[in-house]
Amino acid sequence: MSPSERDLDESPARAVASYEGAAQHYLSPQRRDPVKVLSEEPISRRIIAGALSWLDIPDDAPVRVLDVGSGTADGFSLLTAPGEDGVAVLPESRCRYVGLDVDPEMVATAAAHITSPRAEFVLGDVRDDLPDGEFDLYLSCGVPYSHLRSDELGEALASVLGSITAGRRRAAVVVDVLGRYSVEWQPRWHLDRWDYAMSFFAGGGEHIEEPMTFYDRTSLDRVVAGAAATTGARITRRAHTDRSVLLGRHTATGTFHPGVPRFRSLVNALVRDPEGVRAEQLHFTPAVDGAPDAVLAHLAAFARRWNATLEPFVGRALSDSDAARLADGLLTCERDAAGAGLGVGHSLTATLLVEP
Ligand SMILES: C[S@@+](CC[C@H](N)C(=O)[O-])C[C@H]1O[C@@H](n2cnc3c(N)ncnc32)[C@H](O)[C@@H]1O
Repeated sequence: MSPSERDLDESPARAVASYEGAAQHYLSPQRRDPVKVLSEEPISRRIIAGALSWLDIPDDAPVRVLDVGSGTADGFSLLTAPGEDGVAVLPESRCRYVGLDVDPEMVATAAAHITSPRAEFVLGDVRDDLPDGEFDLYLSCGVPYSHLRSDELGEALASVLGSITAGRRRAAVVVDVLGRYSVEWQPRWHLDRWDYAMSFFAGGGEHIEEPMTFYDRTSLDRVVAGAAATTGARITRRAHTDRSVLLGRHTATGTFHPGVPRFRSLVNALVRDPEGVRAEQLHFTPAVDGAPDAVLAHLAAFARRWNATLEPFVGRALSDSDAARLADGLLTCERDAAGAGLGVGHSLTATLLVEP
């Protein structure tokens, strides 16, 4: 048997994500709802700032970033656009950004949308050779690595870690995947890969179904450890972050867990138009089985804090200022819960400091 016949025998066919027609959805202003702006983006910026702080790059030096699965370049905006505090994680003048994506429409749309001379976009698959050049940060956001099976994620991370060790330098790697134990898909917690509908927000138009892989901290760490062993890379620091415990986008659609309260829609309504919203609609009853004990204990603690935040507002109509205070309290619960990093949110992010 020739080597190529053996490869075909042993490896399942390589699938490529299909995002046909989705690029415009990613750029639509509707997509940046209050939950995204006030909770998800601040958490993502915190992750990126944390990763850069590990590298001790001098304040005036350029920072070279490879954004894996860059789509329409949310990663570039997270890096260089001012956050809620008016400050960008990285001044655009210091950013040297390369976006890598396997989808030609995404690459073309991103290149047309981001005209900064500090950004370029490359068509390619992270499982193949990476774009030329050395990078300080191998970023990912918007869960691109979940498109891969876990053996393929191992392959992709080996490619990233291998390029760091080949350059004999340190770099930070941000691995963003879907969280296995999000309430958005509680009825599917027993599965680690299933057909995920990217139906976006109600009325958002596009609907794409793709098999996606879901991780908790243990399963993600296992894949990272395999890639590190293959490449000889040393991981000298790591952190894990959950993003959107109750406010993931599928608590607006209910697609995978029809019984879940529409937490995201309700919190968005508290910010935009609170008429008719009642605090009791936001009550959270955590699962008592179906996940590891640490996950269930974390969700129970989260529920105590979330429901205590609702308590003063239960049983009465909300004034505009009540609604603003309640929204603020609930969004604070979400941002504060991020540090657990167990795979209980819409996304789970591992941040790694890699040394040769
Ligand atoms: C959900 S989108 C996220 C895009 C962007 N990072 C964001 O935060 O909006 C996932 C992206 O990963 C890309 N992708 C999926 N598999 C990939 C692969 N094997 N190599 C490179 N890009 C990939 C898709 O084409 C898509 O643009």
